[in-house]
Amino acid sequence: MESLDICSGGKRDKYKTLLPQIVSLVEGENDIIANMANICSAIHYTFNNLWTGFYIVRPDFSQLGESLVLGPFQGPLACTRISYGKGVCGTSWKEMKTIIVPDVELFPGHIACSSLSRSEIVVPLVRDRKVIAVLDIDSSEVGSFDDTDREFLEIIVESIK
Ligand code: SME
Repeated sequence: MESLDICSGGKRDKYKTLLPQIVSLVEGENDIIANMANICSAIHYTFNNLWTGFYIVRPDFSQLGESLVLGPFQGPLACTRISYGKGVCGTSWKEMKTIIVPDVELFPGHIACSSLSRSEIVVPLVRDRKVIAVLDIDSSEVGSFDDTDREFLEIIVESIK
């Protein structure tokens, strides 16, 4: 693929144009970092959100436990490590489910990597019943994410396997 095709329609139409491109991006490549990198670029340039990226479950500093560690992303600099159960990402990891935060100021424990972030969606990547990474998208506007994002982003994340 040489360039990303971006639909000018609404959110659902944008996802419908994005999804087959993501499937074709990942089908010829089995390196998870390469696939995460292209996926977050494709999502980021389709929707122009503030920040789009992955956090990957890795050994923590002590090597005794695990943390989320910053992976491929598009957007401003971000915090590098998030603990289990902390912030929106760590909560999605712990609860093994997608979390939509319509207003980050109303989510107790939200980790503000950027003061511009106002709403957020985090989708876990589950393999063998274990979360191995999360996809995090931040918007500078309140209420940017809904069930349409959940539906398509869960399919996109699933396509990484
Ligand atoms: N807001 C996230 C932290 C990651 S940044 O937004 C990129 C959280 O609360 O987990």
